[in-house]
Amino acid sequence: MNPSVNNLKVGIVGATGAVGQELIRLLHERKFPLQELVLLASARSVGKKVSWEGKTWIIDEAKPEAFDDLDLAIFSASGSISSKLAPEAVNRGCIVVDNSSAFRMDPKVPLVVPEINAHVLRNEKPGIVANPNCSTAVALMGLFPLHQAFGLKRFFVSTYQAVSGTGAAAIRELEAQTRALMAGEDYAPEVYPYQIAFNLLPHVDSFLDDGYTREEMKMLNEGRKILEHPSLEVSCTCVRVPVLRAHSMSINAEFDSPVSVSIAREAIEGFSGSELKDDPSNLVYPMPIDYSEKVSCGIGRIRKDTALNNGLALWVVGDQLWKGAALNAVQISEVLLEYGHL
Ligand SMILES: NC(=O)c1ccc[n+]([C@@H]2O[C@H](COP(=O)([O-])OP(=O)(O)OC[C@H]3O[C@@H](n4cnc5c(N)ncnc54)[C@H](OP(=O)(O)O)[C@@H]3O)[C@@H](O)[C@H]2O)c1
Repeated sequence: MNPSVNNLKVGIVGATGAVGQELIRLLHERKFPLQELVLLASARSVGKKVSWEGKTWIIDEAKPEAFDDLDLAIFSASGSISSKLAPEAVNRGCIVVDNSSAFRMDPKVPLVVPEINAHVLRNEKPGIVANPNCSTAVALMGLFPLHQAFGLKRFFVSTYQAVSGTGAAAIRELEAQTRALMAGEDYAPEVYPYQIAFNLLPHVDSFLDDGYTREEMKMLNEGRKILEHPSLEVSCTCVRVPVLRAHSMSINAEFDSPVSVSIAREAIEGFSGSELKDDPSNLVYPMPIDYSEKVSCGIGRIRKDTALNNGLALWVVGDQLWKGAALNAVQISEVLLEYGHL
């Protein structure tokens, strides 16, 4: 971080949401050089108070003029709001870090996981920088070090995605539905099409004509872009599970070179942002409760795949509200500072 910079005006669009709340916390905890923090949301929230550690802000409406004096705006509302307002912010001289899917596959927009491809931000000052899909970001924190060691050819992944990935309303639904069902009462689902408590849904995001969901295709398309690996093959099934926070995934990956479990473990240990949690004989493996509100993603259950050539099976867990969204966005902002773009 550039130590001489200490006067940045930063806005959060979607500040009342699940990701927005984490952004407020992480910008402060990581000592991002804030002169002013402007919290924006929909017209419904105007005038609401948001507090963190004794500081209080009043929510303003996210509209074009709100970006007039800002240096940086982190968007975490929705794709349609980013499509409408991010270009307005850029036209007003603001750099945008966007958590939505609106610009991720735009060839002119960098899509960044700093530990993997911060270099794409080095030379040119960007207008918009996209933050990847949450499960893609977490999966790559396990796969990238193995790609460096053995050359990733293709992978198969099934996700176990926490309800906070859907947003604040889904967290409330799981909590309230669990309480209601335990009390023997009914609780009609509102956020999800079916009951999520004591259940799971093999369905994240909307279905496409070929039977995959949009979320599943993000793993392929965003994975190729971030790894700069256009021939990467991915087959993904995304599942919503009744976990509050942190996504987990079971990955079976095939590599170009022969694999070794010990080299794979060393690769994970040497990669910043991930930690090896892999000692099955002592029942040590990553779990969502241990990786909530944690900077590192956990990688475990590493073993030779029994069905693939040069294959490894692994289990990856990461806080999708952090590494899949708020933390990654703040880390991108730190890189923008380091490279002198802010
Ligand atoms: N949750 C995750 O783990 C995760 C991970 C990666 C990416 N993302 C992406 O991050 C974004 C936010 O997700 P979330 O989980 O934080 O959702 P959320 O909890 O539902 O929050 C949505 C936020 O958007 C705001 N908003 C809604 N309509 C708006 C409008 N017309 N103008 C301005 N703001 C508006 C809401 O403000 P009000 O309170 O005023 O309605 C709220 O602050 C989404 O694009 C999502 O895909 C989320």
